[in-house]
Amino acid sequence: MILVTGGAGFIGSNFVLDWLAQSAEPVLNLDKLTYAGNLGNLAALKNDARHVFVRGDIGDAALLARLLNEHRPRAIIHFAAESHVDRSIHGPAEFIQTNVVGTFTLLEAVRAYWNALPENEQKAFRFLHVSTDEVYGSLGADDPAFSETTPYAPNSPYSASKASSDHWVRAYHHTYGLPVLTTNCSNNYGPLQFPEKLIPLMIVNALAGKPLPVYGDGQNVRDWLYVGDHCTAIRTVLEKGVPGEVYNIGGNAEMKNLDLVHTLCRALTALKPGRDIASQITFVKDRPGHDRRYAINADKIRRELGWQPAETFESGLIRTVRWYLDNETWLMNVTSKAYQQWIDLQYAQ
Ligand code: NAD
Ligand code: TYD
Repeated sequence: MILVTGGAGFIGSNFVLDWLAQSAEPVLNLDKLTYAGNLGNLAALKNDARHVFVRGDIGDAALLARLLNEHRPRAIIHFAAESHVDRSIHGPAEFIQTNVVGTFTLLEAVRAYWNALPENEQKAFRFLHVSTDEVYGSLGADDPAFSETTPYAPNSPYSASKASSDHWVRAYHHTYGLPVLTTNCSNNYGPLQFPEKLIPLMIVNALAGKPLPVYGDGQNVRDWLYVGDHCTAIRTVLEKGVPGEVYNIGGNAEMKNLDLVHTLCRALTALKPGRDIASQITFVKDRPGHDRRYAINADKIRRELGWQPAETFESGLIRTVRWYLDNETWLMNVTSKAYQQWIDLQYAQ
C-alpha cells in the first residue's frame, strides 16, 4: 500500500480519489483534519475497504512509527501542510510546526522504518515530497521561468517553511540515502479546493453577489495547473522519477490575476447567465510581500518522464466552475462559521 499524508485536503483528496480509480493498491490516509481537511471530500470512498483513514498529526512520532510498522507502505506521498500564504502572514507559527517540524518528524520515522526493510524493499521504497514553486521567490516580467536549478529565495512565511522542508528532504537523501523525490508545482485549481484560495473564493463570492477582492493592481502573475494534471504528474514521478531528483510541474498557463478573474466571470456568466458578475470586481489592499510573478519551466518532467498536462486553462476552468455549481452542499458545509471568521479577518479593510 501507499501512505498519503494530508489526503483530506484539496490536492491530497483529488490524488486519493484518482489513485483508487486507477489502481487496486490500497491507500493509508493520515490527516489531522485541520480547517483545510474535509472527510466530505472522500465521501465516495465510504464503503471502499482500500481506503484506510487515520486522523492524526505528522508531528506525532509514536503514531507514525505504529502506522508504518503496521501497514508497511512501499511509498509515501507527503501532501500534509499548512498551505495558505495569507494565513501564514497572520500566523506563521503553525507553518513551522507542520511544514518544518512535522516534515522532519515524518522523515525521522520513515528513516527508522526504511532502515529496517529488507534490501529489495529498501531499493523500491519512495518518499515523494510535494512542494511548491513559491520556494524560488518572485520573477520579473522578462525573467526566465523557474527551473530545478533556480536558487531558492522564499519570500513569505509559507514559502520559507516549504523551502525548509525541501532542504530537509534533500538532506535525508544525501546523508542517509533515503530514496526521496521532490516536486515543485505551480498554483493548482479544480474541484474540492477550499474557498480561501483565489479561484474558489471568487466563485463563492460571485455566486453570493459579493465583491471579488483583487489584491493590489491585479497584475501579479501565476501559472495555473488543473489538479487532475498534478495528480498524474505525481503518479508519473512516483513510478519513473530518479531518487534524489527534483521535478518542476506546471500548466503552461501564466496569467495575470485580473485577467484570470475576468475569464472566470465570463465562464460563470456562460454557465449561469443573468448577472454582470465582472461588475463585482473590487481592488483591495495588497498582500504584504506579494510575489509579483511565478512561472514554471517544466521541460525536465516532460523530457525525462514524458508527462505533460492534459487540460488547457480554459477546459480546466470550465470543469471547475461546473463542479462548484453542481456541489452547493459541499460548499455550504465548508463555508461555516470558522470560514466566515477568516473572511472577516482577511478582508475587513
Ligand atoms: P490543503 O491546505 O488543501 O490541505 C492540507 C491538508 O493537510 C489538510 O487536509 C490538512 O488537514 C492536512 N494537515 C495539515 N496539517 C497537518 C498535520 N500536522 N498532520 C497531518 N495532516 C495535516 O493543501 P493543498 O492545496 O491540498 O496542498 C497540498 C500540498 O501541495 C501542500 O504541501 C502544498 O504546499 C503543496 N502545493 C499546493 C499547491 C496549491 O496550489 N494548492 C501548489 C503547489 C504545491
Ligand atoms: P492564492 O490562491 O492565495 O495562491 P498563492 O498566493 O499561493 O499564489 O492567490 C493567487 C493569487 O491571487 C495571488 O497573487 C494572490 C491573489 N489573490 C487575490 O488577488 N485576491 C484574493 O482574495 C486571493 C485569495 C488571492
